[in-house]
Amino acid sequence: MNEKDTYILAIESSCDDTSAAVLRNKTLLSNVVASQKVHEQYGGVVPELASRAHQQNIVPVVHEALRQAGINKNRLNVIACTRGPGLMGSLLVGVSFAKGLAQSLGLPLIDVNHLQAHVLANFIEEENVENHSSIQPSFPYLSLLVSGGNSQIIKVDSPSEMTLIGQTIDDAAGEAFDKCAKVMGLPYPGGPYIDKLAKEGNPQAFKLSKPNIAGYNYSFSGLKTSFLYLLRDKQKENPDFVEENKADLCASLQQTIVDILMNKFQKAANDFGITEIALAGGVSANSGLRSTFAAFAKKTGRNSYIPKLAFTMDNAAMIGVAA
Ligand code: KG4
Repeated sequence: MNEKDTYILAIESSCDDTSAAVLRNKTLLSNVVASQKVHEQYGGVVPELASRAHQQNIVPVVHEALRQAGINKNRLNVIACTRGPGLMGSLLVGVSFAKGLAQSLGLPLIDVNHLQAHVLANFIEEENVENHSSIQPSFPYLSLLVSGGNSQIIKVDSPSEMTLIGQTIDDAAGEAFDKCAKVMGLPYPGGPYIDKLAKEGNPQAFKLSKPNIAGYNYSFSGLKTSFLYLLRDKQKENPDFVEENKADLCASLQQTIVDILMNKFQKAANDFGITEIALAGGVSANSGLRSTFAAFAKKTGRNSYIPKLAFTMDNAAMIGVAA
């Protein structure tokens, strides 16, 4: 252990994942995530249940992160936590715990913006990875941040200088995946199920509505409604319509969401003349989006960066590296 090293304990609790990570400078030593299964039966996150689950999880999750990192809490130099945006009750658990721990250990507390952390997830360094610069975009880069709660295009000039270029005016892309999955009777969160089923379907089978919005902003509420109406109308003629067409419905929906996301993103990348592009957030796990994003980069001579799946979902490692 080098005395000059900074050891950070980071805590993330903005939605339904309780996570703690330990970093030595930018190097990740542990990243523990406790996902909350309790919401599955309701088809979406129930805020009160999320807060209660965070309360139960936070102590064992922090203990486990310290154990896996092989350090004692007295070696920590900094505590970091997510200050928002997110569910108020969920955030409160993480922030209160982090404040109490920082105070009891006499350490500084760094509060981190959750979205900024998603965008900086590429900079998490792992001990077994050698050439970090090959997976880290250089500045400025354009980030497409897509999650259950956000869809944003962000120009990143430095770790602390980010400009919001466009964002959803209603629902997020992840919300569109999850709500459309719900009306097809798929479990929550539906994004991964749609991704899996889409692989066997025809993306051109159904034509779904795409928004016509000026500038770089997104909208997904119209798509959700058009999907719901399609199912309602078709089920009147054939009650087994969804079961018989599930793969085609998933493929068409996924293709439409990817098209909407990529159209605005490509326009922004061209207009701002940015050659470094990165994906962030839980929806960047989507195989259709990943391949379209990489293909766009290849075709236009850009460099694309997509963090490891574990770092695209809500996690404390990204909070630590942002701190
Ligand atoms: O960033 P994240 O973990 O947290 C929230 O913002 O809540 O993102 C979760 C979102 C959910 O909407 C989930 O359905 C979506 O990411 N997601 C996916 C896939 N994996 C996760 N959406 C589409 N395809 C996937 N493979």
